Order: sequence, then structure tokens, then C-alpha cells
Amino acid sequence: MEVIICPSYEEMSIMAAREVASLLNTKPNAVLGLATGSTPRGLYAELVRMHKEEGLDFSQVTTFNLDEYVGLPDDHPQSYHYFMREHLFKHVNIPEQNIHIPSGTTRNHVAFCEWYERRIKECGGIDLQILGIGADGHIAFNEPGSSLGSRTRIKTLAAQTIKDNARFFEKEEDVPIYAITMGVGTILEARRLLLLANGENKAEAVRNAIEGPVCSMVTASALQLHPRSMIFLDEAAAGKLQMADYYKWVQQNKPGAPKPEV
Ligand code: GLP
Repeated sequence: MEVIICPSYEEMSIMAAREVASLLNTKPNAVLGLATGSTPRGLYAELVRMHKEEGLDFSQVTTFNLDEYVGLPDDHPQSYHYFMREHLFKHVNIPEQNIHIPSGTTRNHVAFCEWYERRIKECGGIDLQILGIGADGHIAFNEPGSSLGSRTRIKTLAAQTIKDNARFFEKEEDVPIYAITMGVGTILEARRLLLLANGENKAEAVRNAIEGPVCSMVTASALQLHPRSMIFLDEAAAGKLQMADYYKWVQQNKPGAPKPEV
């Protein structure tokens, strides 16, 4: 796991966007796994900027989103379909037919989830999966107790998640209680993982995920099992890490990194 502690949210977003951009520059037809939530908004804004100002090309990119609320139609302002359109898709040139987001309105969840898994494989697997983290340590909607081998499925949200996400809805009762989510096992199959977290309210989840035991109570801890994961944090989210100084030292002394001038 590579832990990158950034001085600010803005810088974290830019550094993470550079990882995505450098993948697209070496593999223009990359398959990206995408996340929603407030955390990756800065990353998407930077990708949009790179597309508009620097010509970053998405014309061969395929995308798979992690999750979607069950019961929300695509045009519902709180749906993840809507979020992705507003923050990324309508600003860049990803072909419509290359975009995949779990359906919030399917009537056959089992068949849909099987198709989603199959479709990821047909497209060659996910090259780079972007992730956020919930305050209880979840990734996607893999709530505490989710099997670390879980696959795409319907999941009941935890009370904490409903409470956390209520800020996006008019009232807490409007938050759907089910979601379709990629499983932890699905996520771990991506070739690279890139998790972002900012703010003090994520500090405990981040510590548990990075420095705690691998366990289904903190599904983000599964990243410890992945050979190529990067975790981008701002100072506040890194605030409870025991090894923070070491992670910074590693970044300053990366093999091959230019030595500062003296
Ligand atoms: C939801 C999403 C997660 C996201 C989490 C944190 O639960 N399903 O993918 O990581 O919220 O969201 P935020 O970035 O808004 O804190």
C-alpha cells in the first residue's frame, strides 16, 4: 500500500487525477472503476480541466461505477447516475455505450448483478478503481460485515451510512435503504486501487483501514490484500495514522525521485 499524505484536499485531488491521466496516456482504452460521494468531486473536476485544457482523451475509455441506490431512477438528483453525469460524463468524451452504472430500477437484481460482473470481465477487467471510504470504513456500499469475497449484489445500508448520506436528501427518511454495489471481491480484482479520503471525520476509518487488522468490519482494510493500491489523504484524514511520518518519509525518498537541490 502506498500512502500519500497531501497538504490539502485540492492537492490530493490533483495528485490522484494525475494517476488517472497517466494511465490514460499509456493505455487510452483503459477501463476505469468510478466512485461517487463528495470526496472524488475534486478529482473529477481536475480530469474535466485536463480534458478541456490539455486534451486528455476519454474517447476509448470504458467505465464501471461502484454502486447505485435501489429505487432511484437515473434522473433523480440524488442518484449516482445523475451525480456522474453532472460531475464527469457531460464534460468529457466517454462514449455513452462505454458507461456502466448499476441500475437503481432493475426488477431482477440477481440477473442484473450477474450481468454487471460478466460485463466487467468482457471488457477486460478494471484497470484502475477509484474509491472513497465511509465513516464506518466501508468501500462502495460494502457495509461492516460484508464478506471480503463478496460480489456485486443488493445490500442493505447501515444506519450510519443512511445518516451520513442524509445530507444529500431533503430528510433522512428519503435515503434509500438498499443499494446495488460491487462486492469487495469484485473491487479487489481491479489491477490498481486508488482510494481517496479527506477530513477529520474519516481519520478513524482511515486508520482502521490502513493500520488495523484486515476484517469484514472495515471493508476498506481489504486494500491491504491488494498488491497495487494507492491511498491519497489530506492531513486531516491522516491525522490518526501511527506511521504518518514514515509514509511521508517514503514519499520524500522514493527510489528514482529527484533529490531536492541543496
Ligand atoms: C457512499 C458511497 C461510497 C463513498 C461514501 C463516502 O457510501 N457508496 O462509495 O465512498 O459514501 O462518501 P463521501 O465521499 O461523500 O464521504
